[in-house]
Amino acid sequence: MDALTLLEKDHDTVRELFSQFKTAKERPDTNRMRSLQQRIFHELEIHTAIEEEVFYPAAEQVGQEAEELVNEGVEEHHVVDVLMSEIRGLEAEDDAWVAKMSVLIENVEHHAEEEETELFPKLREVFGKDRLAELGRQLEQAKQRRQQASADPSRYAAMSRDELYERAKQRDIPGRSGMTKDDLAKALEDADA
Ligand SMILES: [Fe+2]
Ligand SMILES: [Fe+2]
Repeated sequence: MDALTLLEKDHDTVRELFSQFKTAKERPDTNRMRSLQQRIFHELEIHTAIEEEVFYPAAEQVGQEAEELVNEGVEEHHVVDVLMSEIRGLEAEDDAWVAKMSVLIENVEHHAEEEETELFPKLREVFGKDRLAELGRQLEQAKQRRQQASADPSRYAAMSRDELYERAKQRDIPGRSGMTKDDLAKALEDADA
């Protein structure tokens, strides 16, 4: 699959999750919102990481306009990172959790749209089929590597919720009392990063 098709597919996956999240929010179904939030974060983390690792370094070589779009893209990813870490520190019942999720969704929708309408067409013009296919392979590999890493039982995954909670307390991780075992493991991993 060529690089741009792969990235557009990722965008569509996240858009679909966003639309499910919005439906859950209307009901409202907090449990469903929470589980969708976890899937959304997982997708976004992998997607933004592989863009920054493989795709942006190639894209910014194309010209000044592409370089500016890439620089903006990196900052937009950063805003999403900040929002994700703030959301992880809140309870899903909290109004701020819901508000931050809505802002995150709007930001990502805008960002993906901009990549697809401004950056990708430039690259389709400049990069030939072979180059796009090669970048697609590299993105696929980076994605698989990251998916495996996140599926690997890390040292936190082997711990009980109580052990994880104790560590979260030591690290003063906000929102820990309402977190599931998986949330705690993820928050600790983030705190280590
Ligand atoms: Fe992006
Ligand atoms: Fe993207």
